[in-house]
Amino acid sequence: MAVIAVVGHINVETTLRVDGFPVAYTPARYPFFGIQSAVSGVGFNVAAALTTLGSTVRLASIIGRDPTGALVAAALSERGIGSEWVLVAADATAQSVVLFDPEGRRQVNTDLKDMQEMTYPADRFARALSGCSLAVVGNINYARPLLHIARAAGLPLATDVHAIADLDDPYNRDYMAAADILFMSGERLPEPPEAWAGRVMDRYTPEILVIGLGAGGALLATKRDGRVERMPAVRTRDIVSTVGAGDALFAAFLHCYAETGEPATALRKATVFASSKIGAAGGAEGFLDARALDALTVALGHQATGAPSG
Ligand SMILES: Nc1ncnc2c1ncn2[C@@H]1O[C@H](COP(=O)(O)OP(=O)(O)OP(=O)(O)O)[C@@H](O)[C@H]1O
Ligand SMILES: [Mg+2]
Repeated sequence: MAVIAVVGHINVETTLRVDGFPVAYTPARYPFFGIQSAVSGVGFNVAAALTTLGSTVRLASIIGRDPTGALVAAALSERGIGSEWVLVAADATAQSVVLFDPEGRRQVNTDLKDMQEMTYPADRFARALSGCSLAVVGNINYARPLLHIARAAGLPLATDVHAIADLDDPYNRDYMAAADILFMSGERLPEPPEAWAGRVMDRYTPEILVIGLGAGGALLATKRDGRVERMPAVRTRDIVSTVGAGDALFAAFLHCYAETGEPATALRKATVFASSKIGAAGGAEGFLDARALDALTVALGHQATGAPSG
């Protein structure tokens, strides 16, 4: 099974169920079992999803020396993700608060503390890459200098720049320029995703581009054959919260693509994996293992694409 290096953000995420957006003022609420805290963040979500699917992951990240950091260490151990490459180097661990409504819409509030000023040692990351077949580099600031370490190691590089609206986005262009497999969200695009995908493929050099389209599924563009196609979303259970849907899609795609080398098949399975994740409140919850993902994908194959399965 593939050994995959992941560098990315970890935080402790508190999810709160609300009645709708905007949130109406009321001095006190008692949402029984509507508040949960768990470890999440792009790096953790992707590492946990890959590990659940059976990939071996080396997760490089930075957490704090505070009690919140101890929660992260416990979660890494519980999820079978090694902590060897996770640095306990900041004063405080990042945290997020996610509000989600009955339709599963979510508002993510992230407090990065001083993570955007932190540095991950390049030599340490270079050692983490040894023996890996893929580098997954998140767009947290301390990962930026690690892009060229991964490239120098000759590894294919996957990244997700999330919600983006400018092809030359100054924060994200280094990531887009370095990517062989590039994911992004369609949420803030200034034009239809097909047109945007064409411009991304002209401007940058990814082999594969995937744009997450929420309930509309995802768009796949491949450099090799110039293909641009939409993959519909699937519904496998009721939606609780869409937080982390993009991370789930990204991780499952990478796992399945490493296995088959077939992007459309991998993306189809990734939409099934994401549909399970959004049936849970937390960003790192609701993941299927490889056997369950295969079984569900086969079962859905007998229905019209995109139809609810009950
Ligand atoms: N409301 C929804 N209904 C059905 N499927 C959904 C919904 N939201 C997300 N999904 C599934 O999850 C996948 C990834 O979600 P989405 O496209 O929103 O990711 P993203 O915008 O890239 O990232 P983010 O997690 O930040 O929203 C979609 O391609 C789809 O398969
Ligand atoms: Mg989205």
